[in-house]
Amino acid sequence: MGETGRLGKSEMAMATTAGSSRGIYAARVVERVELCREHFRLRFAVPGLPASGPGQFLQVQCNGDVTARRGVQAGGEDSLGSDAGEGHEFDWDPSAGPMRRAGRAEASGRAGASGRLDPSDGLGRLGQTVGGSGSLGGLGGVGLGGSMGLDFDGPAAFLRRPFSIAGRMELDGVSHVDLIGREVGVGTRFLSRLGVGDEVSVLGPLGNRFRLPGANGIGLLVGGGVGIPPMIYLAQAIAELNRLEAGERPRRAIAFSGALTVDLLALTRTGNAPRPGPTDFDPRYNIGEFDAFGVPAVISTDDGSWGWKGFVTEALERYLDAWITDQADRQRAIIYTCGPEPMMKRVQEIAARRGIACQIAVERAMACGMGTCQSCCIRVKKPDPARPPMPGESWCYRLACTDGPVFSGDDLLW
Ligand SMILES: Cc1cc2nc3c(=O)[nH]c(=O)nc-3n(C[C@H](O)[C@H](O)[C@H](O)COP(=O)(O)OP(=O)(O)OC[C@H]3O[C@@H](n4cnc5c(N)ncnc54)[C@H](O)[C@@H]3O)c2cc1C
Ligand code: FES
Repeated sequence: MGETGRLGKSEMAMATTAGSSRGIYAARVVERVELCREHFRLRFAVPGLPASGPGQFLQVQCNGDVTARRGVQAGGEDSLGSDAGEGHEFDWDPSAGPMRRAGRAEASGRAGASGRLDPSDGLGRLGQTVGGSGSLGGLGGVGLGGSMGLDFDGPAAFLRRPFSIAGRMELDGVSHVDLIGREVGVGTRFLSRLGVGDEVSVLGPLGNRFRLPGANGIGLLVGGGVGIPPMIYLAQAIAELNRLEAGERPRRAIAFSGALTVDLLALTRTGNAPRPGPTDFDPRYNIGEFDAFGVPAVISTDDGSWGWKGFVTEALERYLDAWITDQADRQRAIIYTCGPEPMMKRVQEIAARRGIACQIAVERAMACGMGTCQSCCIRVKKPDPARPPMPGESWCYRLACTDGPVFSGDDLLW
C-alpha cells in the first residue's frame, strides 16, 4: 500500500488470490500504529505467506523472546528456528513489554519435571524451563522450528491467539499483513507491546472467506469492535475485484462501523468529508481505512461522541429503509458482518426481514484454529436432515475455525 493506503496495481493483484495452503511463518513487525485508546494496528512482513482472502485469520504466537529475534532475517517457516535446540529462560516484566531474555538454560531435551501447567484458563504457567523438541506445533506455537525453551515466570499465552487479517499487500515480493488488536488479556497484551523489528510466529491463513458480491452488487460491511478488521480486508478485496474487471458493472461497498465511544473506534478519522452528526446515516469518505479503497462509511457511537448516536444496527436499518428498498436492490445486496454476537444476531434479523443475503464471520474462542480441538463448535442448520451427521436431525455442529468463520446467516443457529 502506498502512503495514501491505496493499493498499487501489482500489490492488488496479489492481495486476495485464491489458494488454500497454510503454514507457520515468521512475521516481523514493520509498523505499529495506535488507533485509539485500546486498539493498535500491527503491520507484519511475512515472507512466503500463502494467498489469503477476507474472513481468514492467523493464529499468532503471543509469547516468547521476540526481542532477541530482532534483526533476524525473516525467511519463512524456519526463520524463527535459528536457535532450534537451545533452551532459554526469560524474565517477563509485564510493564516492560514482550518477554526479555534473562539468560540461557541448558540445551534442550529435558522437560521440567515439576513444571506446572494450568490448562483451565488457556494460559501456560510454567514454573521452570520446559525444554526439548517436543512440539505443540500449530497449537501452542512455542515449538516453532523445533525450539522449545520457555520459562514463564508470569502468565503467558500458552496457545496461539486468532486475529482476522485486516489487509494485505505485496511489497518488493514480500507479503505484508495488517492485524488490529484490542488488549483484553495476556495474549493481546503481549501483542500490544510488540515494536518494529520484533518477530513472532504466525500460523495461517486459516478458515474460509467471504464470498464477494457479484457484478453490480452492493456490499454492506457491518463491523463492530474487533469485528471491524475483516471488513477492511473485505473492502480491499472488493476494490481489487472491481479493478481486475476494469470498471465493468462494478460492485459498490459501504462500511458501517460501530463503537461504544469515539475513543474506542479502531479506525482513522480524516477531514476528507464533513464530520457526521448524531442523526446522520449517510455514508462519507472520512474513514481512512475504507476511503483508501473508495468505500464510504457510516460511523456510529453508542454515546453520540462521533457520527450516528446509537447502535450501528440502527444506522444500518435507517440506511436500508432509505436506499435499499426495491426488490432488485435487495437481491443484489449482501450484508457482511463481524463483531459481538448480539450485534451479528441483530444484523442477521435485519437482513432476513428484508430478504437480503447475509454472511457472518463468527469469532468464537478458538484454541487450535485447525479443526483439532473441537473448542469452537457452532450449531448450524443441516441442508438435508436425512443425511449424516445425526440423520433425522435438522441441525448439526460445525467448527468455526475450519467450516467458518464465515457462515450464511440463514444457516446459523448460534
Ligand atoms: C476468527 C477470530 C478472529 C479474531 N480477530 C480478532 C481481531 O482482528 N482483533 C482482535 O483484537 N481480536 C480478535 N479476535 C479475538 C481475539 O482472538 C481474542 O481477543 C484473544 O484471543 C484474547 O486473547 P488474550 O490472551 O488477550 O485474552 P484471554 O486472557 O484469553 O481472554 C481475555 C478475555 O477475553 C475473552 N475472550 C477471549 N477470546 C474471545 C473471543 N474469541 N470472543 C469473545 N471473548 C473472548 C475471554 O473469555 C476473557 O474474558 C478474534 C477471534 C477469532 C476467533
Ligand atoms: S479451534 Fe480447535 S477445532 Fe476449532
